Amino acid sequence: MTTAQRHLLKPRKVEFDFASTPLHWLRNDPFSTHIINGIHMLLPAGELWFCRVYNQALPLVTDEALREDVKGFIRQEAIHSRQHSKAQTYLEAHGLSVDYVQRAEWLFDTILGDAPFGMKFLKQRAWEKQWLILRVGLIAAIEHFTGVLGQWAMDNDTWEENGDAAMVDLFKWHLAEEVEHRTVAFDLFEHLCKSELGFYVSRQALMAIVFPLFLYFISEGGRSLAKQDPDPEARRIGRMLLPRILLELQKVGTRTRNVPTFSLLLRATARWVSPRFHPIDEGDTEQALAYLARSPAAQAAAAMNA
Ligand SMILES: [Fe+2]
Ligand SMILES: [Fe+2]
Repeated sequence: MTTAQRHLLKPRKVEFDFASTPLHWLRNDPFSTHIINGIHMLLPAGELWFCRVYNQALPLVTDEALREDVKGFIRQEAIHSRQHSKAQTYLEAHGLSVDYVQRAEWLFDTILGDAPFGMKFLKQRAWEKQWLILRVGLIAAIEHFTGVLGQWAMDNDTWEENGDAAMVDLFKWHLAEEVEHRTVAFDLFEHLCKSELGFYVSRQALMAIVFPLFLYFISEGGRSLAKQDPDPEARRIGRMLLPRILLELQKVGTRTRNVPTFSLLLRATARWVSPRFHPIDEGDTEQALAYLARSPAAQAAAAMNA
């Protein structure tokens, strides 16, 4: 990336009030609402894990500009995690249990921790670095989707029309920052890989793990909430199996444009295969900054800092 394209990543200390947010915050669209709400239960643990892994990776970064990007990334993700944790209280206020959080914590804290299942050898010097770099690579693959979904949200023109203003702002603020920092995870993984070939092969192998897991966890998160919906029609979503959820994602996404389609995710995964792939081409920073300039929560945070 050229110096002209670089810009300093800054955290925005936003706050949201969901006191008047309805359960189906996307009007007449329980499917999109539940699938998107599942994210409130996955991200707090996931993004804190990003921060822990990146704090460990920081001493390995020898490029000053990249180090600043990594620090900016950590600060932004820490706030994302906190705000989605708070959004869980909106789900609980509507009588929904957020027990699914424990599944996310098990994934990020136990399976992807420093010594999963007590495998202490991963803390030994020879293995520690490899395990760390592998997790940096997993984050790069996950961040490909957050960047792609971020650009989708920046292009979206139905949420503001159909959705609750506070919840729409939470997701759009978060996803605008995902577009803003979309290159950091990829650049960090490349920086820590010894060879271009090793980088290419491992990022393909990691995506082969991340893509199905991403679909599974998003679908399960949404299902766990839909099962508890007071509306029996919406509870049907909770009984759908993964292939049916993906089919529905395609149908509802095409019809309402409130949720990204499955084909959008497939195309994004296919682009990752190219050796010339770089996330800079996956989004528009100016468009993200334009949203952040008009986001009510980001504006209030800027006013507090002024
Ligand atoms: Fe984030
Ligand atoms: Fe991110």
